[in-house]
Amino acid sequence: MVLMRRVYFDNNATTPVLPEVLEAIQPYFAEHFGNASSIHHYGQETRKAVERARESVAALLGCRVSEIVFTSGGTEGDNLALFGLLRSGDHVITSSIEHHAVLNSCKHLQSVGCEVTYLAVDSRGLVDPDDIRRALRPNTKLLTIMMANNETGVLQPVEDIGKVAAEADVYFHTDAVQAAGKVPIDVKRIGCDLLVIAGHKMHAPQGVGAVYVRKGTPLGPIFHGGNHERSRRAGTENVAGIIGLGKAAEIAQQALHHGDGQRMAAMRDGLQQRILAEIEATGVNGAGAPRVPNTSNLYFDCIEGEALVIALDLKGLAVSSGAACSSGAIEPSHVLLAMGLARARARASLRFSLGKQNRPDEVEFALGLVSQTVARLRELSPLHLPVSSK
Ligand SMILES: Cc1ncc(COP(=O)(O)O)c(C=O)c1O
Repeated sequence: MVLMRRVYFDNNATTPVLPEVLEAIQPYFAEHFGNASSIHHYGQETRKAVERARESVAALLGCRVSEIVFTSGGTEGDNLALFGLLRSGDHVITSSIEHHAVLNSCKHLQSVGCEVTYLAVDSRGLVDPDDIRRALRPNTKLLTIMMANNETGVLQPVEDIGKVAAEADVYFHTDAVQAAGKVPIDVKRIGCDLLVIAGHKMHAPQGVGAVYVRKGTPLGPIFHGGNHERSRRAGTENVAGIIGLGKAAEIAQQALHHGDGQRMAAMRDGLQQRILAEIEATGVNGAGAPRVPNTSNLYFDCIEGEALVIALDLKGLAVSSGAACSSGAIEPSHVLLAMGLARARARASLRFSLGKQNRPDEVEFALGLVSQTVARLRELSPLHLPVSSK
């Protein structure tokens, strides 16, 4: 039987656990299984390993060890940051391109008496720090603006936003789930009070994450229970997950030092440039903005993105469209619409996101498949390319 070749370019959805990470985790299921809160040998053994992982995560983010709180991932981290800090009557400023972990939390905050301003972005997907300044109110307590967007990879000017927060004396939370491990992060330079990461976007397991909580930030728990994580996150720690996150953080930090970002960007740029050159009526969403090195969001006019995702998957290439299915209809991505794309173009967009495991020959494989599949779908499409682009 001949196995079909498969290539995975959907690393912003989740990444494979790296072999070194898997090796580091394995003893923590059956051999070193203690509860990190137990005082006996078994507990002490896992406690030490959890604290070593905390050191590695703190080193990746440039903060103190005591400022790291382990969570179950990005969604919990964002919820902890928002609900742990805000109270009824507070005003929050966010952007219209945030992940739903933030956007839907903000909607819920509104239902419990908070005020929320959703800022627009420009056509590149960037928030203007001056818009934040203009949106400040006497009761503004928090700015929550993501570091890197999950669909486009666009990096926000977080250091400038940190300055606005400092001038206005408001807290600043940034969702760095899609930035961690891809670009250097230094919480001091950013000037944030809260920063969220998730293991499974950086080659650690699913179901673990961390929040940087700047010393002195009055963050209450959202889970009520034991005094784990210095009373900031109750619940027995996910020891294996935490150790995996620690190992992935070490690997990411070293790789960033050794030019991993440039290697990734070269592969991504190669894929992007060849698609733009070889397939007509295509373009980059977020062009002109700084982006993380692994992500390229491209539109293929006159094609239904979902149909392209499915057709490519049948041929062995996994990518994604930012579209979401709501009440039976496919809704274009809220991020692309916020950037001003027409609905048809937003629906014709695909996200390619690379990971550490990807190799240049996979780019070649993907290119071949994308060209053939786009040509075939366009032939079948009732929509027509403008004559000028034929
Ligand atoms: C920017 C961003 N924030 C938050 C999340 C949620 O993270 P998790 O899947 O770990 O809950 C994601 C996941 O896609 C994300 O991309």
